[in-house]
Amino acid sequence: MSKLKLGVLISGRGSNLQALIDACAAPDFPAEIALVLSNKADAFGLERAAKAGIATAVVSHRDYPGDKPAFEAAMNATLRDSGVELVCLAGFMRLLSPWFVGQWHNALINIHPSLLPSFKGLDTHQRALDTGVRFHGCTVHYVRPEMDEGPIIAQAAVPVLPGDDAHRLADRVLDSEHRLYPHAVRLIAEGRARVDGDLVRIEGPVPELAAVVNPPL
Ligand code: GRF
Repeated sequence: MSKLKLGVLISGRGSNLQALIDACAAPDFPAEIALVLSNKADAFGLERAAKAGIATAVVSHRDYPGDKPAFEAAMNATLRDSGVELVCLAGFMRLLSPWFVGQWHNALINIHPSLLPSFKGLDTHQRALDTGVRFHGCTVHYVRPEMDEGPIIAQAAVPVLPGDDAHRLADRVLDSEHRLYPHAVRLIAEGRARVDGDLVRIEGPVPELAAVVNPPL
């Protein structure tokens, strides 16, 4: 069976990109990265892609001052030219317009470092600490025009532990991101994640999870 072609959009260090690169290296993984696209020429993730022999492109928003439509049209054309079928946002730090999101309806996903719909936006780890939640985590979701909205594909929860600061908590969440993103891509590539209105239905057997209590019983 042919593999689903991914386009990964980055702006920075690309640790989630690396997790996808590593997952795609397994012969039985049902997706492959066709292109890594960055809006920043100095994004470290571009080096990760090059090291893995993956095609890269830079479409800099700075080349389109005040002209977001032209910037997004250039990104869109670059992705289409590479045969991309699913766009994965992985630390891509530009807000996408409804036009771009519409071009990739149900073919554009994002990883966000919180258990959505809690803590949309930035600074999620400090806000989780300030709120006193006992679980935090990350979410992979289909993108809709509103920021950090859209049908949820998969989530990973991590405990908030005594003594955590935002850095420790961020590291714990990031580890979970690196496991969750490839898992969500696999579900999509295998046709097991089906968008149904505002929800994603997971098809096929899903083992039941036990309740997790924090602080532990
Ligand atoms: C991750 O925390 C991701 O959830 C958020 O941006 C960060 C990107 O990190 N959207 P990296 O570039 O993948 O290391």
